[in-house]
Amino acid sequence: MTWDTVSLDWNDAETVATLTVDRPEALNALNVETLEAMGEALATAADGDARALVLTGAGDDAFIAGADIKYMKDLSVAEAQEWGELGHGVADALEAFPAPTIAAVNGYAFGGGCEMAIACDLRVAAESAIIGNTEIDLGIIPGWGATQRLPELVGDEVARRMIYLGERLDAESAAEVGLFGKVVPDDDLEVVAAELAERIAEKPAVAMRAAKQSLNQRLEGSQAAGLDYEKRAFASLFGTHDQREGMDAFVEDREPEFE
Ligand code: CAA
Repeated sequence: MTWDTVSLDWNDAETVATLTVDRPEALNALNVETLEAMGEALATAADGDARALVLTGAGDDAFIAGADIKYMKDLSVAEAQEWGELGHGVADALEAFPAPTIAAVNGYAFGGGCEMAIACDLRVAAESAIIGNTEIDLGIIPGWGATQRLPELVGDEVARRMIYLGERLDAESAAEVGLFGKVVPDDDLEVVAAELAERIAEKPAVAMRAAKQSLNQRLEGSQAAGLDYEKRAFASLFGTHDQREGMDAFVEDREPEFE
């Protein structure tokens, strides 16, 4: 199976799959086609018994610069509900992937890009990476899981600052708050992520799966309810002036004027 905006590659032993989002002309922003392809690629990697999966972005500039603002700017509330479901589905598939997943963050990881990174088990970042949940500056909130997964990772105070202020953290700052597990020179990222994936893939697969499932158990219950709440809140904002203004301003390359 092949896709225009996503590729899935295997190591020689066919134990480690690498999923690359490949839309560099839009800094790997996620549109419907790309999200659907990611979902299919994840299912293909799981069917191929991947023992570890690396998620990264094509090119030198971006991991994933977020949801595609040009696509979503004119969505109705009902359409935004579907859009939110699609992104949530991919983030959930990463979180529930049967083997450990590693985000190799090679540049901008904003909004939905940050959300895909934090749905992975582990994060390794290039020194030049910048990460943040910047949705507030578009008149919306994180729509693919960050209100629940970010505090789990960095603690409530830091998550609130990041989401309320749309803070963009450089790699070193992100590592300090626990968002990145490791920061490496840009040129080393691919190799370091691959080595980590290989080390995981060499461990006993049944025990690894049990370890991941057990660790994920603590997310059940309250996180699921929170994710549902987030989906509804995200979609409802697509009926507001500030959402239209925030996204029009991005597309027109000007400062937004919020209510
Ligand atoms: N959606 C659509 N297109 C995007 C994009 C996005 N999220 N991010 C970048 N692009 C496009 C730009 O429009 C531009 O396209 P054109 O050449 O056709 O104009 C191209 O990618 C290159 O981008 P820039 O010219 O802006 O590059 P830059 O180096 O000057 O700036 C950047 C890079 C700081 C990442 C800037 O592009 C930016 O701020 N992007 C938006 C980031 C963002 O707000 N992401 C969150 C989206 S909301 C979200 O994800 C909601 C959710 O939770 C589901």
